[in-house]
Parts: sequence; C-alpha cells; structure tokens
Amino acid sequence: MAKVSIIGAGSVGATTAQRLAEKNLADIILLDIVEGLPQGKALDIAHSSYVLNFNSTVTGTNNYRDTQGSDIVIITSGASRKPGMTRDQLTGINAGIIKEVVTHVTCSSPDAIILMVTNPVDAMTYLALKQSAFESRKVIGLSGVLDSARMAYLISKELKVPVTDVNAYVFGEHGQNMVIIPRLNSVRGTPLNKMLPKSVISGIVENTIGAGSEVVSLLKTSSAYYAPSAAAASMTEAILTDSQEIMPCAVYLNGEYGLKDIVFGVPVRLGKNGVESIIQLELTKLEQKQLAASAKAVKELIKSTASA
Ligand code: LAC
Repeated sequence: MAKVSIIGAGSVGATTAQRLAEKNLADIILLDIVEGLPQGKALDIAHSSYVLNFNSTVTGTNNYRDTQGSDIVIITSGASRKPGMTRDQLTGINAGIIKEVVTHVTCSSPDAIILMVTNPVDAMTYLALKQSAFESRKVIGLSGVLDSARMAYLISKELKVPVTDVNAYVFGEHGQNMVIIPRLNSVRGTPLNKMLPKSVISGIVENTIGAGSEVVSLLKTSSAYYAPSAAAASMTEAILTDSQEIMPCAVYLNGEYGLKDIVFGVPVRLGKNGVESIIQLELTKLEQKQLAASAKAVKELIKSTASA
C-alpha cells in the first residue's frame, strides 16, 4: 500500500486521515508535535476499521522518522483563522512553522509529493517549494477544489439541481481575490451566465469567496474541516490512483497564463507525478485582467512571507 503522512493532527489533518483510511487508499501516519494527540486520534480511527471494512493502517506519532519514505505528505500544521481574520493574517505565524515542517519532510521523504493545506495556502505552497527544492510538479496547494465545491453547493441550492450535475471552477488566490468566471461554471453543460441573472451570480460569487469565513464565524474556535479534508482526500486519491483528473490547484507557474515565479490556482491534471500538466484555458481580455489582479495580491503575500 502507498504511504501517506499527514502533518498536523488538528481537525483538518485528522479528518483527512479518516477520509483516506475509509477510502482504503494508503497506510497513514498522523504526526503532530503535541504528545498523545496524533496517537489518540489515529487509534480512534483505526478502531473504526472493522466496522467500516478498511485495511489501511493509521498510526499516530510525534517523530518524523515514522514518516520516512512517504509517497505523499499532506501538511496541515499551523494556526487557523479565528472569527474576523483573513487567511493572510496567518502569514507571520505559519511561515515559521512551515519552514520547519518542510525541512523535516525533505529529509525523511525526499521523493514525496507535498500537498499543502496550511494558510495562506498560495504563499505557503511557494514557501514549501523553495524550502524543499523539490520539482515544482511535486508541490501542490489545496485551493480551487475546496472553493469550487463551495461554489457548486451554492449553485445547486440556487437552481435546485443535484450538486452532482454542477461543474464548478474557481481559480486564483485561495482568499479574497479568488477568480470566478461565471461562464466556466455550468450545469450539465449549460453555462451559469445563461441560467441566472447577473445579480444572482454576483451573490453566489460573493458567498463563495466568504464561505470559509462564514464557517469560522459559526464555529468560533475553528475553521472549516469537513470540506477542506474532502478536497485534500480527493486530490490525494487522484495522485495515488494516477487518475489524470483535472482539478484547480495552487501550483507553480512559469509563464502559463502570463504569470511567472508564483504559486497560483489554475486547472491542472493530477496523476502519479503530481502535476502532470497545467491546463491553459482561453480567457478574454477582461478575464485575464481579473486573473492578473488576483496574481498581484498573491505576489505581495509571497513577498511578505519571505520577510516573515
Ligand atoms: C477554508 C480554509 C481552509 O477555506 O482556508 O475553510
């Protein structure tokens, strides 16, 4: 079986471990610096294997030695948002944590694919890429799969159609500057802009951008984890099964979409090598402008991470 290590046994990390175990996709190591936490959560998940009929092993640890030789390392460590906070405000605290985690990961799993979940995810993925010196196709951030899932949910609610009939695509920053192009979102092939008036679409866009904050403000002491872990598990599954699925992910761009030396959310094909290819969609001038504005915000965040 493949080996997947999850760094950080908070709600996102532990729920991702649970989802992957239940998919019977890999043996899982759950690591955290807090003693007992990863061990306790891993044991609890492992106890469910008989009932849920999976053979994946789930092991909790505080030691990177146990993560050695992982195929994929999912990084969830760091602080999460509190009500009223933006993801960007986590830069200072999380940059230091990610640097340390990535140093360990690089030593213990030099051939792994890194899946970054920690926020602000575009900047943290860039940091992980530089810190690890891994090939860029092997360092991927979780962004658009989650944002698209939220968009799809809102579209299905608005149109009263099954969410499985919706095709949603959200690009750009995983933050206030995410890029939503209505015509690229569709229901069984019909673009959103042909189904809903502009004002309703604007509401959906606004609610998609604010969806993460909405959950934080309800939970108060935690940010979202069911949808983020679902997104992390589905990206992991695509890589482990070499599915070649196209998913919007935060990846390193070297000229694609006219953007260079940046980690940014665009559609990519995921497979056993990580990012198998970057899909270049044809955008109108206006859409390209929207993308460039989002990229500018991400670049600034990357710059502030370097000095954090
Ligand atoms: C969210 C966090 C994971 O969007 O960024 O809920």
